[in-house]
Amino acid sequence: MNLEYENSFEIQGGNFQEAGDISVFIKKKLQNLGVAREILRRVAIAVYESEINIISYASKGIIHISISPESVVIDAEDEGPGIENIELAMRAGYSTATDKIREMGFGAGMGIPNIMNCSDKFTITSELNKGTHLTIIINISNNDAEKNR
Ligand SMILES: Nc1ncnc2c1ncn2[C@@H]1O[C@H](COP(=O)(O)OP(=O)(O)OP(=O)(O)O)[C@@H](O)[C@H]1O
Ligand SMILES: [Mg+2]
Repeated sequence: MNLEYENSFEIQGGNFQEAGDISVFIKKKLQNLGVAREILRRVAIAVYESEINIISYASKGIIHISISPESVVIDAEDEGPGIENIELAMRAGYSTATDKIREMGFGAGMGIPNIMNCSDKFTITSELNKGTHLTIIINISNNDAEKNR
């Protein structure tokens, strides 16, 4: 299997109409590439939560995804307000979602914790009034052995 794929997707803040589209596209792509269901599930969740956060909180962003036989690497980078307290943002249940975001069905404070659960390696950096950058790595080879899922 020739497992190599790379693509970038632009996201506009506030564009809830297209929320989830990137995740669905990537999921189909990985399915066609023959990636295992468990990996697929984790990539789809990580991409979904990343795109919803960019739509919800940032002015714009890019999700870059790179697939190799070893891993799936997702970079979600945005221009926006940044995150004041990353430790808090990583905590289950913490949310600053506005009423508008909550009306769309989001704001449980579970997005970042979900991403972390799906990642083999997760890093988040953020600068106030600049933006936020998540790097998510999901291993493909030896995945079960490493994570013991
Ligand atoms: N890209 C971002 N830019 C600025 N702030 C963010 C960004 N992503 C997350 N945050 C902040 O971190 C908090 C926690 O994010 P998380 O995704 O875990 O939960 P949520 O978006 O509030 O709710 P849920 O994801 O469950 O719908 C957010 O409420 C927001 O304050
Ligand atoms: Mg979220």
